[in-house]
Amino acid sequence: MIRHGRYTKGAIVYKETQHFIAKLYHSMNPPQSIANVLLPWFDQHGRKDLPWQHDRTPYRVWVSEIMLQQTQVGTVIPFYQRFMAALPRIEDLATAPEDSVLHLWTGLGYYARARNLHRCAKTVCDQLGGVFPSDLAALQALPGIGRSTAGAIISLAMNRRAPILDGNVKRVLARYHAVEGWPGHRVVSDVLWDFAEHHTPLARVADYTQAIMDLGATCCTRSRPACDTCPLSAGCVAASSGRQSEFPGRKPPKDTPTRERWMAVITRNPSEVLLQKRPTSGIWGGLWAPPEFADESAARNWIAKSLGIPARDCFAGTPFQHTFTHFKLEAYPVRVHCAANQTLSTTVQFDVEDLQWFSLHPAPAVGLPAPIVRLLARLGTEEKERSD
Ligand code: ADE
Ligand code: SF4
Repeated sequence: MIRHGRYTKGAIVYKETQHFIAKLYHSMNPPQSIANVLLPWFDQHGRKDLPWQHDRTPYRVWVSEIMLQQTQVGTVIPFYQRFMAALPRIEDLATAPEDSVLHLWTGLGYYARARNLHRCAKTVCDQLGGVFPSDLAALQALPGIGRSTAGAIISLAMNRRAPILDGNVKRVLARYHAVEGWPGHRVVSDVLWDFAEHHTPLARVADYTQAIMDLGATCCTRSRPACDTCPLSAGCVAASSGRQSEFPGRKPPKDTPTRERWMAVITRNPSEVLLQKRPTSGIWGGLWAPPEFADESAARNWIAKSLGIPARDCFAGTPFQHTFTHFKLEAYPVRVHCAANQTLSTTVQFDVEDLQWFSLHPAPAVGLPAPIVRLLARLGTEEKERSD
C-alpha cells in the first residue's frame, strides 16, 4: 500500500470521490456568487489606498503581487515604494544591473523572486515590446508567474475576469464550502479553483479580487476568524458547523524514515541480561539498553570479542519496532545465552563502556526505554521456560 504520511492511498481515493460528488452537486445547484455580498462589504471595509492600488498598471500590480507572495502587506509597502521610485517602468527594471535589483530586494527575502522578476522584465521587454500579455496562458509562461499571480494581474490591472487563488482566498473558499483536505493535493486545489472560477463576477472584477483577498487578510484570518462580522457568514458551511479551524486541511506529515539497528541481547544464567548505559546526548540518553550496532556483523563481532563466544552460537531474536518523532527504529536482537560464570573479556573496559549485568526478576531499577522494558519482559519469560 502506498502511504502518504497518515493518509493512505485509499483515503485519497475517498477524497477524490467526495470532491467529485460535491462538484456534481454544485453543478446541479450552483451556489450564488459571493460577489453579491462581498462587493458591498468591500465598499465599506475594504483596503483602498495600498500603494499598488493607485495607478494600476500591469507592471505595478505584478511587482506588488510578487513581493506579496511570501511577505506581509505592512513589510512590503516601504520596499514597494522604494522599488517603484528607483524603477518606475518595466524598461527600467529590464535594463537595471542584477545587483541593484537584488539590493532593492534586500530585506524581503526569497531572492529567487527578485531574480525571476528581473528575468521576466527582460523577456517582456526583449520579446513582447514591453507589454504584458493579456491572456492567462501567456502570462503563466513568464518566469515567476503562476496561475494565481496571472489571474491577479488580469483582474486587478486589466479589470478582466480571471480567478485568483492565493493563500487568503484558499482559506476563505475552503471554509465557505468546507472543502476537505490539504490544498497542496491536486484534487483539493482543483476543487478550490472551480469555486474561485464560479464566484468571480464579470462586473467589478478588480474590486472583487481585492475584496476576497482583504476578507481573508482582515476577517477570515487563520486563527481567529471574525465570523460575527463576516459578510459571508450566512452561507458559510464551516461557520455554521463550528468547524472553521479545520479548514484549510493541514499538510499530512511526511513519512518517517526507518533506521535499522542490531542489538546484542546477551543473557546469562540465572536470568540475567547485559545492558549498557547510553551516552547522555542522543536517543535514549542516560537510559540502559542492550549494546547497539549499525549492522549484524558488528553485533556478532562485538559478542565474539567481548565474551569469547563464536558467531555460530548467536541466534536471531524477535525483531521489534519503535516510533520516534523523526524516525522509526527497527531493532533486530542478536541473541546469545551464556553460562552462569560468563564474564566479559578484559579487552572490554567496563567503566568506559558502562556495561552491567542486571537481573530480569525483578526488572532492573534503572532508566529503561519502553520498548526495552517489553524486550526484557519477553526475555524473562523465555528464561523461565528455559529453566522449567
Ligand atoms: N496579497 C496579494 N495581493 C494583494 C493585494 N493586492 N493587496 C493586499 N494583499 C495582497
Ligand atoms: Fe471565514 Fe467565518 Fe466568514 Fe466563514 S463566516 S468565511 S469562516 S470569517
